[in-house]
Amino acid sequence: MAQFSESVDVPDMGRRQFMNLLTFGTVTGVALGALYPVVKYFIPPATGGGGGGTTAKDALGDNIKISEFLESHNVGDRTLVQGLKGDPTYIVVESKEAITDYGINAICTHLGCVVPWNVAENKFKCPCHGSQYDATGKVVRGPAPRSLALAHAKVEDESIVLSPWTETDFRTGEEPWWA
Ligand code: FES
Repeated sequence: MAQFSESVDVPDMGRRQFMNLLTFGTVTGVALGALYPVVKYFIPPATGGGGGGTTAKDALGDNIKISEFLESHNVGDRTLVQGLKGDPTYIVVESKEAITDYGINAICTHLGCVVPWNVAENKFKCPCHGSQYDATGKVVRGPAPRSLALAHAKVEDESIVLSPWTETDFRTGEEPWWA
């Protein structure tokens, strides 16, 4: 009897561990993104000023160098980086020397798709259900109920630092729904 239950339990346990591993593998990317602000929290002097800052990272997880970023992008470009809490966030090139002082969170306020920038139409267009946002991320067509969230963006040393936007939304004159 004992032998029987062992022979059943062992493969069961193996399967469970395998499933755990699989789950771990699929969430690792998300977990790493989520972990970054936590790690950053324990290294306070790096960003300072205003608090809650997160250094913008590229798709590989490397800190973005502002000089290289400006050299390799055109004025008006909106480029995805990993921002606050690992959220995909657009950095806007304002001029050859500067980015705008805000980043635009790319997560659609309808059901959470990442919204691509459409250069030809000068707007963000969600491929999932057709919501549209103007060049600042203000919603101009539903079903998205709200504009894209904002984050403060500033340059510190060679890095782009994003921090929470808790002030009035300059596009709508309303309190930020995401704060
Ligand atoms: S998720 Fe963007 S329109 Fe539905």
